[in-house]
Amino acid sequence: MNLFDVYPLYNITPVKGKGIHVYDDQNVEYLDLYGGHAVISIGHSHPYYVEKIQEQVANLGFYSNAIQNPLQKELATKLGELSGCEDYNLFLVNSGAEANENALKVASFVTNKSRVIAFKNSFHGRTSAAVAATDNPKIHAPLNKQKSVTFVDLEDKATIEAELKKGDVCAVIIEGIQGVGGLDAPTEQYLSFLSQKCKEHDAILILDEIQSGYGRTGKFFAYQYANIEPDIITTAKGMGNGFPIGGVLIHPSIKAAYGMLGTTFGGNHLACAAGISVLDTLEDEKLMENVLQVSEYLIQELRSIPKIKAIKGKGLMLGVEFDFTIKEIRAQLLHEYHIFTGASSNPNLLRILPPLCITKEQFDPFLLALKEILS
Ligand SMILES: Cc1ncc(COP(=O)(O)O)c(C=O)c1O
Repeated sequence: MNLFDVYPLYNITPVKGKGIHVYDDQNVEYLDLYGGHAVISIGHSHPYYVEKIQEQVANLGFYSNAIQNPLQKELATKLGELSGCEDYNLFLVNSGAEANENALKVASFVTNKSRVIAFKNSFHGRTSAAVAATDNPKIHAPLNKQKSVTFVDLEDKATIEAELKKGDVCAVIIEGIQGVGGLDAPTEQYLSFLSQKCKEHDAILILDEIQSGYGRTGKFFAYQYANIEPDIITTAKGMGNGFPIGGVLIHPSIKAAYGMLGTTFGGNHLACAAGISVLDTLEDEKLMENVLQVSEYLIQELRSIPKIKAIKGKGLMLGVEFDFTIKEIRAQLLHEYHIFTGASSNPNLLRILPPLCITKEQFDPFLLALKEILS
């Protein structure tokens, strides 16, 4: 059997990872400033993470959601403490799209409405409602187009207000910082506006923190730079450091009912062990503090490079924007300097999403390479 050929692939075969590096089958070391798409939070093959997963799979890897699983409660408690969202309730899933799919479903259940407001350049995943709320018609199958979604410009207040007034909107879904879309972010004032308007019009505000969450911006969630309490927060990527796990954090004002949501694999023992060890490590190694320190250093150094037009994003979710396409720069970084970086729908923007344990000095090979390429 062949693989269904949907990914254009680099001719690189990583076989090992350690900290902020990955190694290919020729033992070439790569600096990972991409984190496998913002997924690697505590570092590749962190010894504590490996130990906890090994221990768990040797005991019990999986049982269904019909039994007591104290690991889910332990994960929820730790997540609540570390994120400051102690009052929220957690529904565990396996991926980002699934987190958003369930968030949108909850919004529709509790408001008994079905239209969604999302933002231009948004990305929320590939499943039914999540992809419909993603601003990319190329990945909408006719089946997805049946959903009613209105796309609005970030910071546009008048359209949001007019659309909410129609009374049929169940949810407004917004990324803490746009990832795939190119690192644009709502201002703190705009998030407050959205929060207030959603309350006024009985709509659920969903903060998609799948990429911007889990300490990546120096706060647990990017929205926490604003003074709001979203109705629902979705998370995935950094949550499992590579183990598939996602979460829907649901405000206590939204009541659960048996059968409202469900999943076979979500919240399984092994995923919880991975998730708990990530939270333990984030806390023990003070990785959010590290993000702020190293990000400040990186931004300062990048600012001294003349051809860089703008630096977008926060913490270790950064976009380096040029007046020209980054395709060649990115290819050179990868093939000549062995540095992974990311792209986005903005062709002029290089994306930097390293593991959160990176040190200042570990950015230096990248800064040097960038200067050489641009000289
Ligand atoms: C903001 C955001 N939401 C949702 C998703 C979808 O996550 P997944 O690929 O785990 O389904 C992504 C993935 O890139 C994302 O960046």
